[in-house]
Amino acid sequence: MKNEEKQIGQAAGGKIGTGIRLKLFSFLLPLVFLLIALVTWVVTEVTESALRRDLLQRGAAISRVVALSAGHSLLANDPLGLDRLVSETRSSDPDIAFVAVRDASDIVVAHDRVSERGKAYRHVPPLLPLGTFGDTHADEVVRDGRRYIEYTTPISFAGRRVGIASLGLSMEGLAAAQRSIRRPIIAAAAVILVVAFFGTILLSSYITTPVKRLYQGVLSLGSGETFQPVPARSSDELGDLTRNFNRMAETILAQKTDLRKKAHQLEESYISMVRVIAASLDARDPYTMGHSTRVARMACELGRRLGMEEEELMHLERAAIFHDLGKIQTPDELLLKGERLTREEEEQMKNHSADGTEILRMAPFLHRYIPVVRAHHEWYNGDGYPDGTKGDRIPLHAHLIALADAFDAMTTDRPYRQALSTEAAITEIMRFRGTQFDPELADAFAKMVREMPPMGEVPLKSMAL
Ligand SMILES: [Fe+2]
Repeated sequence: MKNEEKQIGQAAGGKIGTGIRLKLFSFLLPLVFLLIALVTWVVTEVTESALRRDLLQRGAAISRVVALSAGHSLLANDPLGLDRLVSETRSSDPDIAFVAVRDASDIVVAHDRVSERGKAYRHVPPLLPLGTFGDTHADEVVRDGRRYIEYTTPISFAGRRVGIASLGLSMEGLAAAQRSIRRPIIAAAAVILVVAFFGTILLSSYITTPVKRLYQGVLSLGSGETFQPVPARSSDELGDLTRNFNRMAETILAQKTDLRKKAHQLEESYISMVRVIAASLDARDPYTMGHSTRVARMACELGRRLGMEEEELMHLERAAIFHDLGKIQTPDELLLKGERLTREEEEQMKNHSADGTEILRMAPFLHRYIPVVRAHHEWYNGDGYPDGTKGDRIPLHAHLIALADAFDAMTTDRPYRQALSTEAAITEIMRFRGTQFDPELADAFAKMVREMPPMGEVPLKSMAL
């Protein structure tokens, strides 16, 4: 049960850290990504819009300057002055694609491309009106497959319109400027994104680590392992919760230890009581006085020789003490009969194995002895009682108790016969080797009995059970 809890705990412990961390991570990271993307988009839009507005205003200003400068030359019919004006204007800014001055009849009188001069101005339909700046109007147009911002500014002199100045700004310049602005913004966003990614991991870890520690503390307390107080480093609610948990765990552990001690005391006193009952039972019949303790002593000695640990020997001793507990229900006239029992009486006597298990069933911590007590009269070949169990299906402790029980019965006086000698009893046991008794255990028992000092008086310690 404890192992299952431990396994579940370990599995759950692994999940809680990653579970919460994953939830935080999957919530925070998209949020941060979204915010960065939004900020990047807004910054790019605002910057590009400012750049576009600046370009529009710059073009409009140049167009107005051309219109102002061209008025006098146009009236004075000074083509050289106009040529110089368009030429200088064209070369003043690399974004300027063309400059044209036309007269009131819409005939081009000056153009940076000489071939256009003297021709009617080539109008193209505007793609998009871009606004009016004072008396200058700007449109987005396509000329010869290329996109331009075309400015149109009327040329007035002395209150009279004498012509029109046209200026074309290349859109490619604007696009290049926008690209050059976009690049550092995107690079900065990428750096922020990487920082945010690792920041989110650190933040998730910072939040989940104390929760994970607390959860492992709960599991450790629940599994009954040695409890180590959970470190509470923060002074926030989580820190308070951890400190309170540590106090609660200490109280639970103290109560658990106390309860375990009391349960052990209760178990010991109950077993002592059963031992007293077993001893009293032996005492009912002067011929079986000390029988249970002698059986326990021999069974344990054999168990020790077979390599049993101390804890197992303790359980073997208890089972041996309890083995004939069922005889408490056997009537005196049967138990103390001074002659051999009849077949019916023998059958009635056989009930004591099953009766003993019913008594042990009353206390849960004695349940472990039930199979041994029930099987202490089973035979190796299956001819025993009450269930006819055979071979390895009979508990090992029951095999050992059966040998010691038979030996003690044979080596003590009975009203109807004298006690057998040790050798005679061993001979009897060996006669039933492989039928009543496990052959290997019977050999080991015979060897042990020959090597053991005479049983003599039962030690006081055992009698005082
Ligand atoms: Fe018995």
